[in-house]
Amino acid sequence: VNKGHGVKGLAELGLKTIPHQYIQPPQERFDMLVEHANHDSIPLIDLSRCDDPKVAEAVCNAAQKWGFFQIVNHGVPIHVLRDVKDATRRFFDLPAEEKMKYSKERSVTNNVRCGTSFTPEAEKALEWKDYLSLLFVSEDEATSLWPQVCRNEALEYMKSSENVVKKLLKILMNGLNIKEIDETKESMLMGSRRINFNYYPICPNPELTIGVGRHSDVSTLTVLLQDDIGGLYVRNTETMGWIHVAPVSGSLVINVGDALQIMSNGKYKSVEHRVSANGSRNRISVPIFFNPKPSDVIGPMLEVVESGEIPVYKHVLYSDYVKHFFRKAHDGKATVEFAK
Ligand code: SIN
Ligand code: FE2
Repeated sequence: VNKGHGVKGLAELGLKTIPHQYIQPPQERFDMLVEHANHDSIPLIDLSRCDDPKVAEAVCNAAQKWGFFQIVNHGVPIHVLRDVKDATRRFFDLPAEEKMKYSKERSVTNNVRCGTSFTPEAEKALEWKDYLSLLFVSEDEATSLWPQVCRNEALEYMKSSENVVKKLLKILMNGLNIKEIDETKESMLMGSRRINFNYYPICPNPELTIGVGRHSDVSTLTVLLQDDIGGLYVRNTETMGWIHVAPVSGSLVINVGDALQIMSNGKYKSVEHRVSANGSRNRISVPIFFNPKPSDVIGPMLEVVESGEIPVYKHVLYSDYVKHFFRKAHDGKATVEFAK
């Protein structure tokens, strides 16, 4: 199927119906009537006074109850967000041959990868999404190997999100009675970063397929920039219904990943989410995953266990955890069982 040209290539052929490979089993499809009847929303937190104990409380509550929240006045300049969205569109507008240079078969490095769906080799049904994934190793590597049409914008966005992630982690660690994030802890929490550029082309049968299937992230924290189109849905862990993350101009979506759920011994929740396909507009999103380093061994933090809690998770090598995630199709919250 459409080797190398991605879903965007398919969409541009003007198909009236999606190829059968993209047809999802009924239980994975979106039922917009049900989805839109739900008017819950995840918390929206103003970070302009992030030293205010009320703000800290809101962040910790959101991470415990929802696993997801949106932030405004986060300190990442609005022009940086605009520029990285423009850069995303520029990248996907490149001719197919240009993008193919970054395919699994041809990319000169595993750290730069352009692809489609999630793990096509392991999936029973494909996802209606193309992506470019950039693992940050060094400024030098990024400057020489990341695609020129988006590298500066990606770097700028990544650098300016770092501060807000540090602030949020400080608050979240405080909530675990960890008052000080030393170098070892900081490296364990956010020692590795990956930025993804996601492109969800217009789909002729959005009711039959999905943009991204149910999953939780393997990160510590994910910072997500989305455009004004919408389509991201988050599981309400109490009702099990899906909550739409309505786009808020200038905001960033923050979510807890599995690594933080494990390190916090289950206090902070890494929550299932998924993305619908869209019948009339192309959507983009740009997540940055702040992760432990591959060589880190992660498990419930010492301070948490020393307070008398029984560890819910065992210690695992983070690279093994990530490998396990990428070996299979999206399957909800199943990855975390690997640490049990
Ligand atoms: C994802 O969670 O994989 C993508 C989220 C989004 O596109 O909004
Ligand atoms: Fe995700």
